[in-house]
Amino acid sequence: MRILSGIQPSGKLHLGNYLGAIRQHLELQESGDAFFFIADLHALTTVKDPALLREHVRDVALDYLALGLDPARAAFYKQSDIPEVPELAWLLTTVTPMGLLERCHSYKDKLARGISPDHGLFSYPVLMAADILVVDADLVPVGKDQKQHVEVARDIAGSFNHLYGEVFRLPAERILPETGAVPGIDGQKMSKSYGNEIGIFLEGHALRDRVMAIVTDSAPVDAPKDPDANNVFNLLRFFASPDETAQWRSRFEAGGLRYSEIKKRLIELLEETFDTARARRRELARKPDEVEAVLREGAVRARKIAGPVLARARRACGID
Ligand code: ADP
Ligand code: TRP
Repeated sequence: MRILSGIQPSGKLHLGNYLGAIRQHLELQESGDAFFFIADLHALTTVKDPALLREHVRDVALDYLALGLDPARAAFYKQSDIPEVPELAWLLTTVTPMGLLERCHSYKDKLARGISPDHGLFSYPVLMAADILVVDADLVPVGKDQKQHVEVARDIAGSFNHLYGEVFRLPAERILPETGAVPGIDGQKMSKSYGNEIGIFLEGHALRDRVMAIVTDSAPVDAPKDPDANNVFNLLRFFASPDETAQWRSRFEAGGLRYSEIKKRLIELLEETFDTARARRRELARKPDEVEAVLREGAVRARKIAGPVLARARRACGID
């Protein structure tokens, strides 16, 4: 079974990304032939600063490798290193009805937010279809927000096959198990776009300042409190054992708890959870050549599959 997923290099990864996506990606590398790539061509639809884009790509590569992406198992590459992808995307655009793209929620949401769309933003799902179809992926693990894009990929593949014969394998999506939205420091869903994120690799003072900035109420220390309404508790429960979580719950309900105590514990838990990954990231950051080599090797593996698939598609539609 071939598993494929793309990661947008749009900023430093945060705890929500880790719990909602990265952790599941890393588990999936054990259960099949996994392909993970950094979607830098997609990122051009939002990141228009070349230095920043380079930095984001490097950060995502380091983050995934440090957190346990194993290049001996999974192919890990940059989308832009696979020239077959944009070429296939063009072939696919010619069988993609405008209406199919006009109906995409993520496009419509961006229009509603007043973003003036360029053509890249509109055809984003076609490039995504090319990512998926070019490696004959069976399974595409994505968050709920990307489900429709995988459906679009299947529709496009279906249209192409209908017109030109059986060229593409139809992919299925796997919706990543909902961890429940991970709250940010202000209690809203943690997201880069809200500026409320806690970076996975924050450490020392920066980590302490961020956790201390988590918004809490000003109830008196002695008052019994509802843990489920507390932003610190709602983050801590993702990292503490069930026993420890239950103890904190009782302490909230009993009253007498100082929020600074649970904040300190959250800092410790974050330090412990990402300790090994942090050391590994530091080490990898000193060896950019090694990271480059992993991505290059990943691209070689992906292109071995992408070349023949693109050739099949070209032949089928009369370009050979
Ligand atoms: P952001 O909202 O910071 O821009 P993305 O939309 O790029 O994050 O999310 C990338 C992945 O991380 C998606 O699969 C998404 O479901 C997951 N994710 C992001 N934020 C959270 C969160 N707060 N809780 C759970 N999962 C999240
Ligand atoms: N659009 C996806 C996201 O924002 C990233 C992505 C690009 C992707 N191409 C893909 C995911 C192909 C799965 C398959 O998260």
